Amino acid sequence: MASSSPRRYLIAGNWKMNNTVHEARELVQPIVHDVGQQTDVHVVVCPPFTALAKVAELVVNTNVHLGAQNLYPKASGAYTGEISAGMLRELFVSYVILGHSERREYFQESDAFINEKVKVALENMLKPILCIGETLSQREAGKTLEIVKTQLIAGLKDVSLDKADNVVIAYEPIWAIGTGKTATPEMAQEVHGEIRKTLKDVFGATIANSMRILYGGSMKPNNAAELLAQPDIDGGLIGGASLEAKSFVKLVEAALARKE
Ligand code: PGA
Repeated sequence: MASSSPRRYLIAGNWKMNNTVHEARELVQPIVHDVGQQTDVHVVVCPPFTALAKVAELVVNTNVHLGAQNLYPKASGAYTGEISAGMLRELFVSYVILGHSERREYFQESDAFINEKVKVALENMLKPILCIGETLSQREAGKTLEIVKTQLIAGLKDVSLDKADNVVIAYEPIWAIGTGKTATPEMAQEVHGEIRKTLKDVFGATIANSMRILYGGSMKPNNAAELLAQPDIDGGLIGGASLEAKSFVKLVEAALARKE
């Protein structure tokens, strides 16, 4: 990221369906200790719903911010098992991961449904982390850019200009998630560059240049520096490596080192 860039790196941990309340406390305490005071890199942890309240207590007044992994796009009502944006706000949640490929695949979430969630998140002052990405067969068929652009435009449909820069995009090639296979920095940059270009078409250059585009998919301390060195990679959405405080802290440090 050039020093003239208005974008601050964002490192977000997606804990997925991992960690009891007790385990969540054990994981977040060393993170708060090590990187909770610096303000150069924006740090977000996304525990499961059941651990949000405890983690909220532990990160209060630090630079570790709280994210959720989903929401339901209604204010309240007969939606057994679901969680509203207002319920998340009450727990001091400020980010929410939406459209993760696991939700698209296992829970049949469509682009239209994800778009509803994005808009409801924004109306409730939550920053959506909108996930997009192609499967291996789509990549092999040369369809990556087309798929990613379609998901991006559909996910952001009717998002107003004044709210757009609260949206974070996460490019996560599905074949790289949890597999140990990372996109090369060049492969990732090609897609990130195209995402930025599409954002410019939709929202104009000023807003597009202020929006953060994260890379996700087997990002680890040993490959973070070269990914973060790409001009349109503004941070990471981290699964596996966010479940261990030491490796997550190293990722934040990799982003801090790029700043210097
Ligand atoms: P990973 O997961 O880092 O374990 O590949 C990333 C994600 O699914 O957000």
